Amino acid sequence: MQIMQANQHLPQQVKIVEVGPRDGLQNEPGIIDAETKIALVNRLSLAGFHNIEAAAFVSPKWVPQMATSNAVMQGITRQPGVVYSALVPNMQGLETALQAKIDEVVIFAAASEAFSQKNINCSIAESIQRFQQVAQTAKQQGLRLRGSISCAFVCPYQGVVPPQSVIEVVQRMRDLGCDEIDIADTIGAATPRQVQTVMQAAAQEFPIAQLSGHFHDTYGQALANIYASLEVGIAIFHASVAGLGGCPYAKGATGNVATEDVLYMMQGLGIETGIDLNAVVDAGLFISQHLGRPSMSRAGNALASKRMS
Ligand code: HMG
Ligand code: MG
Repeated sequence: MQIMQANQHLPQQVKIVEVGPRDGLQNEPGIIDAETKIALVNRLSLAGFHNIEAAAFVSPKWVPQMATSNAVMQGITRQPGVVYSALVPNMQGLETALQAKIDEVVIFAAASEAFSQKNINCSIAESIQRFQQVAQTAKQQGLRLRGSISCAFVCPYQGVVPPQSVIEVVQRMRDLGCDEIDIADTIGAATPRQVQTVMQAAAQEFPIAQLSGHFHDTYGQALANIYASLEVGIAIFHASVAGLGGCPYAKGATGNVATEDVLYMMQGLGIETGIDLNAVVDAGLFISQHLGRPSMSRAGNALASKRMS
């Protein structure tokens, strides 16, 4: 009863976007074959996610691991109702992404100038300009459009990012017609109060139901940041199976928060996700075994060892 009362102000239901196949694998040094990625996406599709970020149609010179994106999208078994998303940096990427029949185009800009230059080789303003045609074409093709804002809290090159810089990018992404906007802690350095401040400021400019939290877990703050986001009404979160990941242009940044950990917390809070935690634990074991190292998910490892006892 006490738990129920404590949860009354939190969302009853959340959407978890699984980003492991893209954000999770993009930074892996050894090339992972398309078959393994396809098997991972298929496992995740069956686990009940409504949205899986499966690919990135970026330059293979910049992110070689994503060069298999077309083969991955062609090879997966699509489950009805699942939205398969991919990052698209420019019209060249969009052309391939359309052939690969993605459901959602993800454009990505930064709230920090320095990170924008390192990640996509142009200023924030130039990136928004470049995305105009991508956004317009995606919409004309009837696709969903999501905007991801990197370094919304801390930048590895510039330090703490002022909320006003985030707001400006939120406004620009809103004006491009984004259906959803991600507020991302690229280097996993944000803390809960800072997260609430930025989320609340973003919600002044864009419907809170369409804002998401994308937290990396470098400093071990991601679950706390998710809880802090729930407290201010955010109900979409990104997570990566087995805690895979890192951004090639954010040195030292580790993976996204582990999906298994997020699902375990949501279960405990009585918040509905529609996802089968056990199936995600299996997917985490599958990919960790393939990569030859233990899963980074604390809950995943605990649940797996409980099975064996
Ligand atoms: P550039 O070098 O300035 O672009 O890169 P360019 O137009 O001069 O092209 C250079 C070469 O790349 C050319 O090939 C193009 O054809 C090719 P060449 O003529 O030299 O043989 N090229 C492409 N090939 C395939 N697909 C394409 C494409 N575009 C160009 N789409 C560019 C500019 C934006 C392309 C590059 O900087 C890039 O691809 N950056 C992507 C970086 C990236 O993927 N970063 C990680 C994802 S973001 C992230 O992880 C953050 C997130 O998780 C949220 C968070 O945590 O913050 C989303
Ligand atoms: Mg990320």
